[in-house]
Amino acid sequence: MKVLFVVFSASGNTMKVCGLFADRLKERGAECETVRIRKDMSAPDVAAADVLVIGYPVHGFNAPQNVVDLAKDLPECKDKVYYVVKTSGEPLHVNDASSRVMDRALKKKGYVKKGEFHYVMPYNMIFRHSDDMASLLWQAAKNTAPSDADAIFAGEERQLKASPLAVATRFVVAIEHKAMPYMGRLFKADKEKCVSCGKCAKLCPMLNIEMKDGTPSFGKDCIGCTACSFNCPTDAISIGILNGWRVNGAYKFAPPREGLTRKDVCAYWRGVYVRYFREHGIDLKKK
Ligand SMILES: Cc1cc2nc3c(=O)[nH]c(=O)nc-3n(C[C@H](O)[C@H](O)[C@H](O)COP(=O)(O)O)c2cc1C
Repeated sequence: MKVLFVVFSASGNTMKVCGLFADRLKERGAECETVRIRKDMSAPDVAAADVLVIGYPVHGFNAPQNVVDLAKDLPECKDKVYYVVKTSGEPLHVNDASSRVMDRALKKKGYVKKGEFHYVMPYNMIFRHSDDMASLLWQAAKNTAPSDADAIFAGEERQLKASPLAVATRFVVAIEHKAMPYMGRLFKADKEKCVSCGKCAKLCPMLNIEMKDGTPSFGKDCIGCTACSFNCPTDAISIGILNGWRVNGAYKFAPPREGLTRKDVCAYWRGVYVRYFREHGIDLKKK
């Protein structure tokens, strides 16, 4: 069995989770290839794969614009089975409709969706999760990704049912995709902090950053993924009107500390995260 992972990941979360799936599928004897979604990528050889897995981070309750565009560009492939593996910062079901536009584009070309898996990973925008939260979220993914990968291996159906609220929210917040190229023009590097390493330009999946006189200059193709600002080694990049939500720097993902309780879970939607952890094999005590 050949499994092709086509993945977008700005701060590494989705790539890490897809890696867990690939590791398990390889253990089962599958051949796995992973292609990263970037503007300069070559067309993925979907026809050669038995199963396609599309990985992406939820952006404003939707798949990111570059992932939707890639789906629209894929060749027709009748009866090609695909699954979605997505990550988001919060475990809310309002994220459940995020694949709709992409699914519609793929269905028109004959692709058949067999399922969708939603993993929660630390936020790369809005606020920084604590190290304990990052550890718990990563442990939760490690606990359940192997059995979800087994479902892919067995060709099982694992559809996510989106509520009318999720569908409506996805529709309304899709405006973010239209606004991002304009908002992206307001991204700026602080000349005092910038060390001219060029990492932002190298990591931008849209090739939207050019180094000019040693500082990054931002073009009009931003999708707001934050690969530039999240990975900046000196936290030099401000992200325009979204700057209050900026998160900088890789998470540690150490194994969870002994004795973590519900109090160590972020106060924002604490009950929902606690339920997510329970459903993923981590039962946190009250005290
Ligand atoms: C522009 C943008 C919008 C986001 N919107 C959502 C959202 O609607 N819901 C959510 O739970 N997380 C949201 N997030 C958080 C990411 O989905 C989450 O941190 C994800 O794991 C990042 O994955 P990556 O490292 O593979 O890019 C958003 C992040 C960005 C940058």
